[in-house]
Amino acid sequence: MKILKRRNSIKNIFSKSKIVCLTAYTAPIAKVADEYADIILVGDSVGPVLYGYKTTRDVDLDTMIRHAKSVVKNTKTALIVVDMPFGTYEKSKFDALKNAKKIISSSGAMAVKLEGGEKIFETIKFLTKNKIKVMGHLGMLPQSMRGKPRVYGRNLKEKEQLFKDLSLLKKAGVFSVVIECTLKKLVDDLIEKTDLPLIGIGASSKCVGQILVTEDILGMTEFNSKFSKQYFKFYKSAKIAIKKFAEDVRSKKYPKKNQCY
Ligand code: KIV
Repeated sequence: MKILKRRNSIKNIFSKSKIVCLTAYTAPIAKVADEYADIILVGDSVGPVLYGYKTTRDVDLDTMIRHAKSVVKNTKTALIVVDMPFGTYEKSKFDALKNAKKIISSSGAMAVKLEGGEKIFETIKFLTKNKIKVMGHLGMLPQSMRGKPRVYGRNLKEKEQLFKDLSLLKKAGVFSVVIECTLKKLVDDLIEKTDLPLIGIGASSKCVGQILVTEDILGMTEFNSKFSKQYFKFYKSAKIAIKKFAEDVRSKKYPKKNQCY
């Protein structure tokens, strides 16, 4: 009898002691990530990573849906979360609901992620009330960032805001929160004060989960930050393979007889 694999449920995932999250935008990466990750995020980092955009603010809804479709189609077990891109949830809660529904119904993804706390509290509450599963995102927020990325939470105003944002996100009904590029001590204090599962990126080892951009860990991007870790040197290996192919074509070693019809 063939046993059908089921998607990880939110309940199952967050009963684990450590949660692995990775990004994916394409079929090949999604297939590999699905074997090891509990959650796959179709992040709006797709803009800078795949399209070479300067910021994530240039990514539109159709792009997110196209990549989300591919990731859902090519995964079996991971919970798929899709970023709501800049401009699709700030105008009104009704607009946000329409766009969240569009992402989920056209891609088959299970949840959406929105950046922000207090400012979008009413919107997130409206989405969860309407049965949309929402992941929050606090700390350094790429969609609101002006200039270079910087560590969040160095002053009292930011610290107090973060506590407020997190408690509001809990009230709004998110199932988890990504916390990005934030002082470790502050994140550890937040963890003490909340039962919301925090997924860290440049945050703290005490977060229940960690997320990184898969293309960064594979060495496919030039992204270089303190928190990132490269597990593979994509360019080095790709260069060797492509150079070999070019040599084979030029020296007529490829294709061989048995590679032709
Ligand atoms: O867009 C993205 O990939 C993200 C993660 C880095 C958390 O939001």
